[in-house]
Amino acid sequence: MELHKVRIVQKLNLVPIERRLEALYEGGFNTFRLSTKDVFLDMLTDSGTNAMSDNQLAAMMQGDDAYAGSQSFVRLQTAVKDVLGKELLLPVHQGRAAENIISIAYVKKGSLVPMNYHFTTAMAHITQNGGKIAELLYPEAYVINSDHPFKGNMNIEKLEEVIKHQGANNIPFIRMEASTNLIGGQPFSVQNLRDVRAIADKYSIRLVLDASLLGENAYLVLKREEEFKNSNMGEVIKTMTALADLVYFSARKISSSRGGGICTDKMEIFKELEALVPLYEGFLTYGGISIREIEAMAVGLYETLDETMICQSPSFIKYLVDALDAKGIPVIKPAGVLGAHVDAMQVCSHIPQTEYPAGALAAALFLVSGVRGMERGSISNQRDEYGNETYADMELLRLAVPRRVFTLSQIKYVEDRLNWLYDNRELIGGLRFVYEPPVLRFFMGGLEPTSDWPQKLMAKFRADFGESL
Ligand code: F0G
Repeated sequence: MELHKVRIVQKLNLVPIERRLEALYEGGFNTFRLSTKDVFLDMLTDSGTNAMSDNQLAAMMQGDDAYAGSQSFVRLQTAVKDVLGKELLLPVHQGRAAENIISIAYVKKGSLVPMNYHFTTAMAHITQNGGKIAELLYPEAYVINSDHPFKGNMNIEKLEEVIKHQGANNIPFIRMEASTNLIGGQPFSVQNLRDVRAIADKYSIRLVLDASLLGENAYLVLKREEEFKNSNMGEVIKTMTALADLVYFSARKISSSRGGGICTDKMEIFKELEALVPLYEGFLTYGGISIREIEAMAVGLYETLDETMICQSPSFIKYLVDALDAKGIPVIKPAGVLGAHVDAMQVCSHIPQTEYPAGALAAALFLVSGVRGMERGSISNQRDEYGNETYADMELLRLAVPRRVFTLSQIKYVEDRLNWLYDNRELIGGLRFVYEPPVLRFFMGGLEPTSDWPQKLMAKFRADFGESL
């Protein structure tokens, strides 16, 4: 049950399917390139789209505009200390800016960064600086229909093997991503993080925590890790951040605002990164973030400690995952955070990976519903250093559920249209690139259908739904 009331609303449009088909062609069958005027339910991401609270909006009015020494930044420092337990804060304009700075400072040719799993921007920054990544999950992480509570756990045995093989000197840091985004928003346990810490200590390697989805990871620790069943959010969050040398985050996610940050309690690390902030972001007391957003970020960080707030998105995700699962639609289980993740490899088993089943499913769902999801499969992968296509471990359609944005009837609409699409899945066909940018191609890439399948799918929709939108 929602423990909030809706006090500001925004009208949505549901345009006819014929218009949605045009929009797909205009946007190169890439949901990033759709315009919100054509989108009914925007489930692209939770980044910058979580609902803000009355207290966040109120705090924004108190922004202390100053290039240097703003009191808004002092309030943010206090919030970071209170919530994340770190004394030293470097503000950056969003999460990938933190990745840029950390990679510039620490990654060089020949570096290897072990991580539980990559995130697109984290990997791009590491490879841009000449490094490579090693993804070290346990096999259960790749099992779609699972009840494993912590599929985001780092494979400890493999971590030690990789360090021995590569040499600790070539490993600038180990990266742990809270609620591993690309494998379906799956958490790791505190115990696993402790085990990673022990190895980091043994080989004197820095441990970096990507805390963009830390609130939700901590919430699932409360629910799933025996040791913490009587703890509160603040205790779990601080237990996790205390294990890392350096914590960075996208405030667009963790604090339902804009911005980002890097925090640490080690002066040496702070000093290694400090000079890069004015160079790439802005002065040290705003880091490219608007002062108003800094105020919203501070309040938003405190709000992540409220279990009744943080549970809203995972609860709706669980509802959707359970409902889809009950209808036999393959979806990542157990339900994680960020969104529901439909397994396009199974839904579109007739589409080869070379024709991007997850991208095709995202386009097809938009066509039949106006729901905009995101491809998290091979289109989101980057080519290898020789320019060869690399295929993703999983082909997922992610349906993000930003915090406190959707009503349950809207979630039921998604369930209903996905159910219809699943029954008609044979009509979905493949995609091919017509424009492929060299870096982070999924953002602005253009694709086209490999046949007239969108027209056939639309004809079936009209036959079944009549004049309905
Ligand atoms: N790390 C994780 C785990 C993320 O999910 C994101 C962004 C970033 C870093 C980068 O942060 O966008 O502020 O630069 N994830 C968004 C998403 C884009 O849709 O999942 P950013």
